[in-house]
Amino acid sequence: MTTHLDTDWTWRARRLADDLETRGDLTDPAWKTAVAAVPRHVLVPEAHQQDSTGTWHHLTTDSAEGLDLAYSPTTLVTQLTDRSTHRESTSSGTKPDLIVRMLETLDIHDGHRVLAIGTGTGYTTALLSHRLGDRNVCSVDIDPELVEAARTRLASLGYHPTLAARDGADGLAEYAPYERIIATCSVPRVPWTWAEQLAPGGAVLVNVKPTVHAGNLVLLHRHPDRLEGRFTDRWVAFMTMRHHTHNQEPPAPRSTTEPRTRSTTTPPSPWWDNRVVWLLAQVHGLPDGVTVGMRLDPHTRQPAAATMTAPDGSTAEVSLTDSTAGRYDVTETGPTPLWEPVEQAHHTWLEHDQPDWPRLGLTATAHHQWLWIDHPDSAVHWPL
Ligand SMILES: C[S@@+](CC[C@H](N)C(=O)[O-])C[C@H]1O[C@@H](n2cnc3c(N)ncnc32)[C@H](O)[C@@H]1O
Repeated sequence: MTTHLDTDWTWRARRLADDLETRGDLTDPAWKTAVAAVPRHVLVPEAHQQDSTGTWHHLTTDSAEGLDLAYSPTTLVTQLTDRSTHRESTSSGTKPDLIVRMLETLDIHDGHRVLAIGTGTGYTTALLSHRLGDRNVCSVDIDPELVEAARTRLASLGYHPTLAARDGADGLAEYAPYERIIATCSVPRVPWTWAEQLAPGGAVLVNVKPTVHAGNLVLLHRHPDRLEGRFTDRWVAFMTMRHHTHNQEPPAPRSTTEPRTRSTTTPPSPWWDNRVVWLLAQVHGLPDGVTVGMRLDPHTRQPAAATMTAPDGSTAEVSLTDSTAGRYDVTETGPTPLWEPVEQAHHTWLEHDQPDWPRLGLTATAHHQWLWIDHPDSAVHWPL
């Protein structure tokens, strides 16, 4: 076996395309050709990987191992930003299996003009350029350095789509209308500018995620007065869209209160176990910005309770094991009861025969957005 063969990307890209087809991620031969033709390692020359202790390691994709990773269904973190308590991934090359599933879900046809929000490494943009031609592809990223790096690397491969350093919430009006918009960063609500920049009958696929883990991809179609559609069956979460003006400092928590203890029949940690309930909790009055976690048992070091913390300092802790059959202990502190909206959401979910994602949908107009179950005109809907 020679080094030349080991570091050849072409067979790896073909193998990736075959694998994605075998796994059912890819059915359209045009996307298969694009996956086999785009050298992902050129667009992702280096990345960071986190080990089981949480430590990040730097790697390059020019070795045989690096190439294997670049041509596998793996997300490659390409940018880390230091926060006060941790390092956060602020850009990555999305997993190829997810990208092709999204492209197929969007039902993109030859001749379509597409806007990709969140250029990142440029891999999604490269697949689009390969399939649709540079003239039909535009992409924006909030980070000018990422845009310039992607522009240079895409050009080295012969792709020259329109790229711009912009806040994707504003779309890219000067090149509109688009038949399709694909966003690979999440939004708490769908920006109405996207509707304005879509051609009649156009569609947008985006991860609507009001708060951590709460949401999924939703495929919205353009109607004269609204965007409307259903969530996709497989759960997906993208990194949150950031904005230049956003103040990263959380508000100072208010004083806490004495712990209040009671029990609940709602199973703990819906953000891991039942993400539909977790999204419903957001529309049942959970305050914005709640973060979630686990408390470990000090003796066994195993997770003992699910925890929630609100920006005002309120907390909720729910035991992971039921103390009496089907009842879990809840302890709350602070001014805002956090578990109650989750209980109401769980009740709603049971009441409607435990809907899965495709039974949930979203309608967005210029001024309002709401979530519904089963049908847009259903009496069962909530403002988002
Ligand atoms: C998961 S990465 C996109 C990966 C890309 N699909 C690829 O294949 O390389 C998400 C990207 O969204 C970008 N982003 C975050 N906020 C944004 C915003 N307001 N407007 C446009 N892009 C944004 C980030 O800088 C990041 O590059």
